[in-house]
Amino acid sequence: MSKIKMSKNIVLIGFMGSGKSTTGKVLAQRIHYSFIDSDEFIESKIKMSISDYFIQYGEDQFRSLEEDIISQIALTSNTVIATGGGIVKNPNNILNLKSNGIIIYLKGSPEHIFERLKYDTTRPLLNTENKLETIKSLLKQRSPLYESASDIIIDIDNKSIDEVVVSILERMRGKAI
Ligand code: S3P
Repeated sequence: MSKIKMSKNIVLIGFMGSGKSTTGKVLAQRIHYSFIDSDEFIESKIKMSISDYFIQYGEDQFRSLEEDIISQIALTSNTVIATGGGIVKNPNNILNLKSNGIIIYLKGSPEHIFERLKYDTTRPLLNTENKLETIKSLLKQRSPLYESASDIIIDIDNKSIDEVVVSILERMRGKAI
């Protein structure tokens, strides 16, 4: 009987606009892993966009839905998982994802993130009068959470998606997954 090697998931965390989904897709293709985007998974379950869900039900309800979905996704293996930027607010999400995953923080500066999101209207938490200031203040609160949750930190400023993928693969070499 042939043995199937069950490997850990690779979980991408980081602020909105740090390229978790795009990077995750490219990485998964490169290493022949499956790919799951937790936000897309949620949207397919609730059959509406996350922004509409936020407006209708509020952030707390979104977070409890998110916890439920993350606990299901965490049971997979050989999967690259792109997560929503707020998952670190709930330690249960990190515990679940760490149980079978290596956590990679895609770390961007507020300015880099702002450049990527300045015309975006799909992030309810950033629909404020001064988007850059909101990014700075949210990132200040969340940075310690991203850093303490992660096994590997990758700087993404001034890097293309391909360069980020190469950095991830280099840093993972030697880590047991
Ligand atoms: C959120 C990030 C979003 C989405 C929701 C809340 C956050 O995902 O889950 O709008 O709190 O940072 P992305 O990080 O994929 O934009």
